[in-house]
Order: sequence, then C-alpha cells, then structure tokens
Amino acid sequence: MAPSMVAAAVDGKGFEDADYNFTHLLKGVKHLSRNGISKVPEKYVLPVWERPMTWGAEPDPLKLIALPVVDFSELQGPNNSEALKSLSDACRDYGFFQLVNHGIPEEVTRGIVEVSKKFFELPFEERSKYMSSDMYSPVRYGTSFNQSKDKVFCWRDFLKLTCHPMEKVLPHWPSSPPDMRELSAYYAKAAKNLFMELTGAILRGLEINQVEEHGALIEEFKAGSQLMVMNCYPRCPQPDLTLGMPPHSDYGFLTLLLQDQVEGLQIQHQDEWVMVRPIPNARVINVGDHLEIFSNGRYKSVLHRVLANSRQHRVSVASIHTLSSNRTMKPSPSLVDDANPPKYKDTNFASFLDYVSSQEPKNKDFLESRKVTR
Ligand code: OGA
Ligand code: NI
Repeated sequence: MAPSMVAAAVDGKGFEDADYNFTHLLKGVKHLSRNGISKVPEKYVLPVWERPMTWGAEPDPLKLIALPVVDFSELQGPNNSEALKSLSDACRDYGFFQLVNHGIPEEVTRGIVEVSKKFFELPFEERSKYMSSDMYSPVRYGTSFNQSKDKVFCWRDFLKLTCHPMEKVLPHWPSSPPDMRELSAYYAKAAKNLFMELTGAILRGLEINQVEEHGALIEEFKAGSQLMVMNCYPRCPQPDLTLGMPPHSDYGFLTLLLQDQVEGLQIQHQDEWVMVRPIPNARVINVGDHLEIFSNGRYKSVLHRVLANSRQHRVSVASIHTLSSNRTMKPSPSLVDDANPPKYKDTNFASFLDYVSSQEPKNKDFLESRKVTR
C-alpha cells in the first residue's frame, strides 16, 4: 500500500496534505512514522543553518569517535589508580566516555529497552494520559523537546520519569505496559547505584579528599534527584532536514545513557560534530552542567545532539542525576582559592526548570547564564 493510503486507512484522511493539523503532530513522531509519511511536516524543518547537513556530504560528516573507555570493575579494584586516571582524563578531555563492566545485568538493560519500546507503541489515548506541562510532574510524556514552546519540533517522542523518592513517584508511573513500573524501577535503582559509585570515583579524581566535603556531597547525592528519560526516535523520511534532539548540554551532574546499537548520538569534540560508536552493553557517561560548575570548569559539559535516520528506529534511556531541586550547586571549595576564583554562580535545579519553562533551551545557554562575568 502506498504510504498515503496507509495514512488514510489509519486516520481517515491523508497524511500527505500540506496542512498537517497540529493534533496529528502532538500525537508524536512515532505516530507520523507509523502512518508512513514520506516527507517531514513543515513544523520539523530546521532553518538551513541548523540542519545537520550530513548524509552524503564531504568530508565525512558521520565521522565516528572512539570515546575513551573506562572499565568500572577496574575502578573498584585494589589497583585502581590507572583506571581513576583514565576516568579523570576522559572527563577533562572529552566530557564523555564509555563505561564497560558496569555491573548492570544485561537482562535489566534489555528489560528497560523492551518496555520503553512497548510504551511508545501504545495507542495515543493511553500515552496521552501522561502528558503534562508541569516540569515537576513525576511522569511526563511528550514529543519534541517542549511541545508547547518549540518553534521547530525535533524528531523524538519521550517519557520522563522522576525516580526519587521512589515510593512516592512509582504509583504515578504508567501502569501499562504491565511490567513498566517493575522494570523501570529496577533499572532506575541499578543506575542510581552506579551513579553513586562513579561519582565517588570522580570526586577522588578531583582530589576532593576533605572527608567532610566528600562525605556531605555523597549524602546529598544519595537523596538527590534522578530523572529517567526514555527517548524514541522512529525512522524519519528526511533526516537531513531535522534532528532527533537539538544541540544541548545536560543540566545534571552526570548522565548515564543507554543507547541501543543504532548510531545517532553526536558530540561536539574539537569543534566538530562526531558520532559516538555504540559499544554493546556499555553506558555512555557524560559530564553535565552541575559537574562543570562543581569542578569550577575543569570538566566541561559537552554539547551533544541526536541525528534522525531513515533506516532504523532508535531508542535510548538517559538517567540524569544531581542534587535535589532545592539544593545549591557551586564550585567546590577544594578547587577554589585566590588564584582560582569561582567561575560560576551558585545554582540549583529549580532555577534550571524556571529557565527552561520560560524559554527554549538551546545549546549551553543556561550554563552561560550562570557564569561569573568579571
Ligand atoms: C538526552 C540525550 C541522547 C540520545 O536524553 O539528554 O542527550 O542518544 N540523549 O538519546
Ligand atoms: Ni542530553
């Protein structure tokens, strides 16, 4: 069946009409893709200078980057100084690395990937129960970045689950697919444990050795915020006109990203966009804005984006961790002295949410607004 006929069969009217009505777009890109559209609607078309300009261009725009690989089991071993150095170097030189041997069982990973795929396949009526414009809602389903504000939409649907405190948020999470809550809670806990261990190592690498500061921070992170974002990037008929996710940095301290085996994530490295090659069962870890602030700029939160693609559906699950929303992040006192004054103003998650509620988040605008100007 021709794509437009599939659309007609599913929705009672053609999808190829120039005037897509907005109701269709709010049903998300999975809906558009499933209806077999052959062109991306106008709402997704980026201005020429913001397009990825990838496919078929020279020099190779899909250049792959081999990110540093950090072996988590070595970090935890008795002779961990080499692994600790590779972790610190990766945070300083790339802001991104691949974490292997992280201890999250493969079946737990498979579970969250499968259940998130199933969620995006639910009828829109079911998914739409979880739509919310409240940034503090324990569950938010939607499309693009912020569908009520974005001028141009991006080619992704998402489900965001607040994970802390688990007993309080869990009853709000989607009740279908039936194993959504169980599998998501399982993965969220595993990711949180990993985050805690990794953060301990990062603090040691930064030589935050003052027992008081180190210990207090670890306690704050334990009670801190965790947001799990399930991203769905369906096949896109014109991937060179749009993006799965626009260039952004992550607001948290660290993001632990589970990406399936389909390429799509690009990071900015040495002023170039480079594609992260997926490593089976690894997690991609990146420095967020709060770690940039905490490290007083020693580690940078790196711009990244996601390309759409016409060949394969892609999913990812990001677990974003930081302090709880009312707690202040500031440059570590251990890293600040007369010669190294604080480069950032104190900030918290709540001010980030205010910021993104008031305007389109772009690039590293929020972090820029937190820099001390002299
Ligand atoms: C994010 C993100 C990348 C990806 O959720 O913040 O950057 O590959 N995701 O989905
Ligand atoms: Ni991100």
